[in-house]
Amino acid sequence: MKLGVCYYPEHWPEDMWAEDAARMADIGLSKVRIGEFAWSRIEPALGIFDWGWLDRAIETLAGHGLEIVLGTPTATPPKWLVDRQPDMLALDQHRNPRRFGSRRHYCFSSLSYRRECARIVTAVAERYGEHDAVTAWQTDNEYGCHDTVVSYSAHAAAAFRRWLEHRYGDVGRLNEAWGTVFWSQEYRSFDEIDPPAGTVTEANPAHRLDYRRFSSDQVVSFNQIQVEILRRLSPGRDVLHNYMGFYAGFDHHAVSDDLDIAGWDSYPLGFLDQGWDDTATKQRYLRQGHPDFAGFHHDLYRGCGRLWVMEQQPGPVNWAPNNPAPLDGMVRAWTWEAFAHGAELVSYFRWRQAPFAQEQMHAGLNRPDGTEDQAAAEVRQVARQVAMLGDISGVEPAPVALVFSYEADWVIGIQPQGNGFAHFQLVFEWYSALRRLGLDIDIVSPKADLSPYRLVVVPCLPILDDQFVTRVSQLDVPVVFGPRCGSKTVEYQIPEGLPPGPLQRLMPMRVLRVESLRTGTSENVLLDGNLYQATVWREHIESDLPVLATFDDGRPALVSAANLHYVGCWPDADLLQAMFMKLCTEAGLTTVELPVDIRLRRRGDLTFAFNYGPAEVDLPADKGREFVLGGQTLPAAGVAAWRTGG
Ligand code: GAL
Repeated sequence: MKLGVCYYPEHWPEDMWAEDAARMADIGLSKVRIGEFAWSRIEPALGIFDWGWLDRAIETLAGHGLEIVLGTPTATPPKWLVDRQPDMLALDQHRNPRRFGSRRHYCFSSLSYRRECARIVTAVAERYGEHDAVTAWQTDNEYGCHDTVVSYSAHAAAAFRRWLEHRYGDVGRLNEAWGTVFWSQEYRSFDEIDPPAGTVTEANPAHRLDYRRFSSDQVVSFNQIQVEILRRLSPGRDVLHNYMGFYAGFDHHAVSDDLDIAGWDSYPLGFLDQGWDDTATKQRYLRQGHPDFAGFHHDLYRGCGRLWVMEQQPGPVNWAPNNPAPLDGMVRAWTWEAFAHGAELVSYFRWRQAPFAQEQMHAGLNRPDGTEDQAAAEVRQVARQVAMLGDISGVEPAPVALVFSYEADWVIGIQPQGNGFAHFQLVFEWYSALRRLGLDIDIVSPKADLSPYRLVVVPCLPILDDQFVTRVSQLDVPVVFGPRCGSKTVEYQIPEGLPPGPLQRLMPMRVLRVESLRTGTSENVLLDGNLYQATVWREHIESDLPVLATFDDGRPALVSAANLHYVGCWPDADLLQAMFMKLCTEAGLTTVELPVDIRLRRRGDLTFAFNYGPAEVDLPADKGREFVLGGQTLPAAGVAAWRTGG
């Protein structure tokens, strides 16, 4: 459990570095991420490298015992490069270039940019790859940030045609798969196919899905180029990327296959403000963030690799519509929550607030004048507590697996069929309901081994392949499928025999019709004599299977085939909770109905509790807790931990 910080020596006079480094160490930080936006200082002109400043920065930090996570600078190609190779710019859907002057202005498919990236990464890795203090590398920075995965450049179009040819072999097969006979969209060769943009109305959904798959594959191969160089020139170092919150622009499981660590950037307040929550929730958690925001992403990214938080919000940010300050104590609570979910590192963004340029309104651990801000004191406190506790043993599989698919997000996003149907939100609500019951959760890819789990939930997996269904058939624990599971084939068509497609092998049922419900409307659902609501989505299920819950018209809302369950609606929070309690009883899993603001998480022999609410809360009673942090009563932003004996 280490603490770190993001630092930009190139932003500050050199005579400040030594004092900065000394204070970092003094606060209790041991890792520092640098370099990820510094291309114009490392290579001010083509082939002219200025290593002096970076050598001295690294020596200064290393001299104070800090380990360095070196970022490759490819998220910010400098002006001279863009001017030399304007074809490296990404094009938006109107084919306008995304121009120089901020960041991430490159197209993943540009071969010339890929060559430049290989060149700069090689140069940096040759210089520092074997440096003792450089213990990890971050590739680029936040792939996809500012909506930058999909580009409609000529490079992308050419690469897409090759990608399609490889996937379909024959254009006749593509025509069949996409259903291009519809509206006379048929193609005679792969060369005729353009990226799906600029059409009069909705482009063909299979075309769009393939473009998403292709664009995701471009991120994977772009990242691989860097990883291959770093592994060769910097052996034994960890390689990671910093992912984002609520973002599915590419398949993070696939990118992570090439990395050691899944880093992510945790900004709970910014995401609450810009997110889907209602006003009351935004008010309640204004300065804490949604109680499940951080936990959800820790569990999601732990399913991608070893978990590091590369950027932790330390104060108000600058990029959400509104930017409140965290409650005092909240930076400490977020840090402990990360550790409780298995993070090996929590690194704060950033050391000192910059008084210039785009992020001058973004807080750091220090104010622009160098004085310590609130978060610095909280980090000191965490550092002391970590030292006192010593290392906590590793992370065991949680009892519950939640299956998450990036492709599912693309499929739903292409034809949501209702304004309210947001895939991420559905998954998050299911996760949240489980955590309200005090359960630990692993969020896993559809390819993951599901055998260690005692409850498996699949909130939304429209494309269900046969292997997944076969693996589910081997489980004897409760498995619950949510709406739209099995509703599409891999070609983006409705399965023969209707949804849920291949799941019919295990659950004989057909979804005859689906309907989306306007925001603010709902349908009653009766479960065990209690009335709940379904919003957003309802399915009409035909089946002879036992029915556990019904709509007002008597039609099934929840059907079961032995240990397998299918939910044909978007359940509200109470229905989710009631359903999960029932399934947990079936699975022999103990649940506890937690106070609304409290969350629990176990790691090693410790159980952690967090209070996300605005007021003090008593933890649910339990005899003889041996607290190592906090106590039975948790103040707002409070953290407690006690020994549970493994
Ligand atoms: C992240 C990004 C950082 C910084 C930060 C501000 O998305 O990686 O470079 O911009 O946001 O919150």
